Amino acid sequence: MLVFTNKTKIEAHITSLKQAGKTVGFVPTMGALHQGHMSLVKEGLANNNLLVVSVFVNPTQFDNAEDLDKYPRTLENDIALLKTVSKNIIVYAPSVDDIYDGNTVAKQFSFDGLEFEMEGRFRAGHFDGVGTIVKRLFEIVKPDNAYFGEKDFQQLTIIKKLVEKHNIPVNIVGCLIHREASGLAMSSRNVRLTPEYKNAAPFIYQTLKKAKAKFGTKSANKVTEWVYKQFDNHDLLKLEYFIIADVDTLKTVKRKNKTKTYRAFIAVYAGDIRLIDNIALN
Ligand code: PAJ
Repeated sequence: MLVFTNKTKIEAHITSLKQAGKTVGFVPTMGALHQGHMSLVKEGLANNNLLVVSVFVNPTQFDNAEDLDKYPRTLENDIALLKTVSKNIIVYAPSVDDIYDGNTVAKQFSFDGLEFEMEGRFRAGHFDGVGTIVKRLFEIVKPDNAYFGEKDFQQLTIIKKLVEKHNIPVNIVGCLIHREASGLAMSSRNVRLTPEYKNAAPFIYQTLKKAKAKFGTKSANKVTEWVYKQFDNHDLLKLEYFIIADVDTLKTVKRKNKTKTYRAFIAVYAGDIRLIDNIALN
């Protein structure tokens, strides 16, 4: 297993493989890998000659210093887990300086308004940070195909926009949400949930599934009101937002239109841990 920490070295290595005609798949991550990440890794391995996985906790996409500080960092375990599926994966685990050259700030991006909805509304500057790191990683890795989870559906939509606006020659592949048996969407933050919160958290997906059923016959407003009510009296989970949005614009639905595709998006605090999830509605 090759593990690079230096951008010049990994770039040279990948360039020589690309010159030999190999296709490059890429899975960017912040580490603390779980089976959700591994589903992207497996898809990447199956469809490319070689696969690069980056492990980098990107400081510029965190709006909360404590969340950044407490974000799990488990590189050795991550490498061991990757080895279980293939010893040929190339890992890129850079330092903050290798990426940011002593200037750890995000560049500013316009994603045609996608960045102001949902996560962008509640996490100021988040998508500038994501755009900065993903563009930088694409320049270093030069992938043919890059894999992103629908778990972060807004991020996936924004990366497609980034690639289109900056003419980056990479195919973006969206992958389904991987869940625990309880229905809880897998997340690196789940390891921080106490048993009490872990027991409570499946309520999020259960509520999304019920909201989906209701959306068949009820208006977006009625479904939204119903979801807020479910969380009103919840002892442990605090709803930050629930939104039904058009998948193309990510704007909240005012009136249903049969020709449009909708998704419900949710963000919930389990104590100080913020969990997000979403579900296709039609
Ligand atoms: P991270 O949260 O580590 O996620 C890396 C990738 O794994 C993302 O594309 C995410 O959507 C996907 N993923 C996470 N949990 C998943 C699940 N349960 N099912 C399917 N896919 C899942 O997202 C980031 O890192 C960062 O923002 C990054 C893109 C690496 C930029 O720093």
